[in-house]
Amino acid sequence: MTSPLTRHPPPPPAVDVVVRPAQPSDAAFLRRWRAEPAVRRYQPLHNVSVARLRADLGAQRPRDLYRGRGDRYTWMIEADRERSGWITLAIVNWEHGLGELGYALATRHQGRGTMTAALGQLLPELLLRTPLERLEARCAIDNDASRKVLEKLGFVREGKLRSYFVLQGRRTDHYLYALLREDYIPGTDLR
Ligand SMILES: CC(C)(COP(=O)(O)OP(=O)(O)OC[C@H]1O[C@@H](n2cnc3c(N)ncnc32)[C@H](O)[C@@H]1OP(=O)(O)O)[C@@H](O)C(=O)NCCC(=O)NCCS
Repeated sequence: MTSPLTRHPPPPPAVDVVVRPAQPSDAAFLRRWRAEPAVRRYQPLHNVSVARLRADLGAQRPRDLYRGRGDRYTWMIEADRERSGWITLAIVNWEHGLGELGYALATRHQGRGTMTAALGQLLPELLLRTPLERLEARCAIDNDASRKVLEKLGFVREGKLRSYFVLQGRRTDHYLYALLREDYIPGTDLR
């Protein structure tokens, strides 16, 4: 995927980043990463079996995204040809073109610019080739790395969600960010 039209080009990644639809064979990686403390710190990730993850991934139909169908999609991020993290898209409402992104990298792949590059590849695909018009992301207010990734990609902070998720047993304030198709490429209307 390329991002020739982005108004906020991400910086060149330190690593070679590829984003591809996740497959059932990726389930064991997801299971392992979700258990890492540095991955769970800012996200309410529950323990899920490999079998359940494999079934979830097997049920996803990447092509449905382009037809405005389906409710959940997962992509695998490969950095220097190694599986390193994932991105999820939860469809909030197709009628209104709303989706919510989630993302994480395995601990040892964090801090190298990988997520900015990965989302930078996926965003034009989502905003220009699917019916989605508004992508949201939420991050804990002290998750500086996540906040910076979103802001570098042009997401706009729209507000603070007080006492939002329970993280490490404590209710935590989050920021709501959103990127609109029209923010991304002003004046674009693909309908
Ligand atoms: C948040 C996360 C996705 C960021 O991806 P990343 O590839 O590690 O981020 P980058 O290397 O591009 O860093 C982005 C910015 O944050 C900074 N940063 C990285 N780790 C940081 C940290 N622990 N504290 C403060 N800043 C940090 C980087 O220096 C960079 O700043 P810059 O743009 O000024 O250079 C990744 O760290 C991660 O998976 N964390 C655990 C899961 C998570 O928090 N997911 C998001 C939930 S909302």
